[in-house]
Amino acid sequence: MNRINIAIDGPSAAGKSTISKLLAKELGYAHLDTGAMYRCVGYYSKVKGIDEHDEQALAAMIDDMQISFDSMGNVFINGEDVSKAIRTNDMSMRASSVSAHPMVREKLVEMQQKIAKDKGYILDGRDIGTVVLPDAEVKVYMIASVEARAKRRFKEYEEKHIEADYDEIYQDIEKRDYQDMNRKTSPLRKADDAKEIDTSDMTIEEVVSAIRNLIQPCIE
Ligand code: DC
Repeated sequence: MNRINIAIDGPSAAGKSTISKLLAKELGYAHLDTGAMYRCVGYYSKVKGIDEHDEQALAAMIDDMQISFDSMGNVFINGEDVSKAIRTNDMSMRASSVSAHPMVREKLVEMQQKIAKDKGYILDGRDIGTVVLPDAEVKVYMIASVEARAKRRFKEYEEKHIEADYDEIYQDIEKRDYQDMNRKTSPLRKADDAKEIDTSDMTIEEVVSAIRNLIQPCIE
């Protein structure tokens, strides 16, 4: 069987991570959640008292920072488990802000490309098909209406017993879409050769199945 790389991009809360994890398990591939890496930069800069607009200081901080993952998808900064701390609404917005800096992106993209240099990876993010892995054999651009995404996020918080306000989640998704799509460096956009899938009215299994159909001919 031919091992390939798979790029899954799209706006926040479109289901990229859930789908990537399921596909990785099925294929025996590794999953890299690149959003978690930007979240780590946002989180660690807050801990260190670094201004989210100070590009130079953020870049220097990244050089002193080791981001790692375990096989369960837990995220570590210099060995400390930050999996929960990086998932708050606050950290979502901060990740989006720090990700707009070209020097931050350059450093994280380099790390991501190093990790995925051997095939057998599913990367999910905003610029995988366009910048990180422009030669990925399969590229997917997952979208969903703001309403569908806000409902999913709200349900996820409820299930995890995290207090959440639906209207606030809805507004944050809209704001993050705007920031991620309108930044100057590698804004979120569909790669010309990516297949767009609107997941608004699809079940998880339907989305997995649609992507499986794209992958199958490439790995045979
Ligand atoms: O996927 P996520 O919601 O965890 O990502 C958090 C933020 O990180 C997102 O709002 C934009 C940024 N990001 C990015 O710029 N490029 C990526 N490849 C992944 C995430």
